[in-house]
Amino acid sequence: MNYEFPITKTTNPKQKPDPKGLRFGTEFTDHMFVMDYNPEDGWNNGRIVPYGPIELDPAAVVLHYGQEMFEGLKAYKTPEGRVQLFRPYMNAQRTNNTNDRLCIPTIDEELFVAAIKALVKLDQDWIPEGEGTALYIRPFIFADEPFLGVRRSTTYKFMIILSPVGPYFESGLAPTKMYVEDVYVRAVKGGTGEAKCGGNYGASLKAQEIAHEKGYEQILWLDGIEKKYIEEIGAANAFFVIGDEVVTSELNGSILPGITRNSIIALCKKKGIKVSERKISIDELEEAYRAGQLKEMFASGTAAIVSPVGELLYKGERMIINDNQIGPVAQEMYDTIYGIQTGKIEDFMDWTVAV
Ligand code: PLP
Ligand code: COI
Repeated sequence: MNYEFPITKTTNPKQKPDPKGLRFGTEFTDHMFVMDYNPEDGWNNGRIVPYGPIELDPAAVVLHYGQEMFEGLKAYKTPEGRVQLFRPYMNAQRTNNTNDRLCIPTIDEELFVAAIKALVKLDQDWIPEGEGTALYIRPFIFADEPFLGVRRSTTYKFMIILSPVGPYFESGLAPTKMYVEDVYVRAVKGGTGEAKCGGNYGASLKAQEIAHEKGYEQILWLDGIEKKYIEEIGAANAFFVIGDEVVTSELNGSILPGITRNSIIALCKKKGIKVSERKISIDELEEAYRAGQLKEMFASGTAAIVSPVGELLYKGERMIINDNQIGPVAQEMYDTIYGIQTGKIEDFMDWTVAV
């Protein structure tokens, strides 16, 4: 199906930020996409309008019971000036998995991608150029029926906003520090950990603030039951290089199945690098560290791209990884993934989609 959306252009275009020193998620483009859902018409009235505040009934379900979801992906401009997305159909699939978990109506994958393309095409001059930059795309859905009983909303809004961004970790490719959380938990199997919903992030803020106060950028979460196995990072998946094995936690129902994670696993396989998805305990990491076998750690995510981790703090013990330097696997994954995304290297995995 060929989707087209009416466009109301802004009469007051904003000044674009200087791409140097761009931070994550503080600037927004001139337009946004909005679409409604009601039981009679399904998803309908997709449109592009000037970016701006929205009206919401104070009784809207989302404000009381958090029935909402979000996604994150990026648009890039190639050296030849083509605009492209990275694996957007995976975001569409994950949206529907999240929607199913949150009792939000699913959305046609082609419609999801067409809406993104239409908005990015209109605001493509906002795609920043410069190492580590991109146009971050934030699709989200929320329940807007005014109703205070606890049940699924009958109406929703699907919106997309765009933000020119620099790297999520301001240090860029300089290693970050992570705090291994052993009091609070992010998610448990059967909860919403593998869905991309705001509640997961709201519930993580307390621990993140404690970590920040101690000088650590983010949390490395442990499993919610035994507090023994590595799950993931606050806004990214976690990878380790132990000896000659690249390892990431297996998807167990409480971890977000990252698209960057999936891409790194596929790239390792393609390049003949030994890679495993399995349980990794914090004890195993400590033992590997003491034996000099914990060679690298890095975060993977749309916002984070591939970010090396140079220090872990667990119960007062500091582990300094790879001398606080980016390691060869993280560097190769960053170069290949960001290279494919930005069209600086050939897309030999067939991952990019033209806008
Ligand atoms: N885990 C969490 C909790 C995240 O917020 C993210 C970011 O989206 C990821 C993992 C990585 O997912 P992706 O690579 O699809 O961006
Ligand atoms: C992303 O990488 O897209 C994320 O969603 C991370 C984020 C919560 C900023």
